[in-house]
Amino acid sequence: MITPMIELLRAAKEGGYAVPAPNIFSLCNMETIFEVAHELKTPLIMGVPGSRDLEAVGYLGKFYEKRYPDAKIAINLDHGGPFEQIITAIHAGFSSVMIDRSSEDFETNIRESAEIVKIAHAVGITVEAELGHVGKADEDTDDERMANLTNKDQAQEFVDRTGVDCLAVAVGTSHGAYKNFNPYIDFQLLGELSELLTIPLVLHGGSGTGDENLSKAVKAGIQKVNIATDLNYAGTDGMTAWLEANKPGLSKKRSDIPGAEKAMKAAYKEMLIHYVGVFGSEGKA
Ligand code: 13P
Ligand code: ZN
Repeated sequence: MITPMIELLRAAKEGGYAVPAPNIFSLCNMETIFEVAHELKTPLIMGVPGSRDLEAVGYLGKFYEKRYPDAKIAINLDHGGPFEQIITAIHAGFSSVMIDRSSEDFETNIRESAEIVKIAHAVGITVEAELGHVGKADEDTDDERMANLTNKDQAQEFVDRTGVDCLAVAVGTSHGAYKNFNPYIDFQLLGELSELLTIPLVLHGGSGTGDENLSKAVKAGIQKVNIATDLNYAGTDGMTAWLEANKPGLSKKRSDIPGAEKAMKAAYKEMLIHYVGVFGSEGKA
């Protein structure tokens, strides 16, 4: 069933685990997410970047909901951008939206996040916002990363004035493949934020952080972990390996794309199952 994200996150907070939030790169990743939710009885949060076809995701979500009636899935717009994009996701049937104004000043972030909360809550949709800024692991300097960590003195005020359901915090991870610095989590800051705030906390930039760091972060108070790059790389590697192994026939075979797609889905699935294990969500749906 497509479920409001807040229900999955509240259960995770009570149960001391985190819900994996895999990004989709292609519409064919959607079925894999439903399959894994069904097979492992794990709640999952599908992360949909605004660049995907949001209307198609909404339609397909309803289709897979019928095919896998016991799968507990939230469909979440990831890093929601323009106002119109966020409204499109709500209209398309997403069960949650993230509004990301983390590059704006504090007051703008509050004002624009609160506006989306008012609209989304009127139709039962969960809202995630970000305080501090989780940047890019292959572009930012270490100083930039450290300067953008969440300011714990602003956290309660942000939550009170926006009414957001869950909060993405910047505690040291970054998006993408690490280049200029090593993955790191400020566990002290995370612990303080978790003590301070009653709403669920979200960790972005899960890829490359290391299983030990991630499971420690879950114990320290994270209820949702976003994973994109590791799934993307696994899927790409799976597809590439299949194409290389089948290269002699590439120019002749009509089945190149189905075969490559199958290999991509299988590798994406394997990586997602790995993270279900790391976050302890198997059997919790
Ligand atoms: P990674 O690509 O580092 O896993 O980040 C995922 C993410 O935060 C998506 O919002
Ligand atoms: Zn992110």
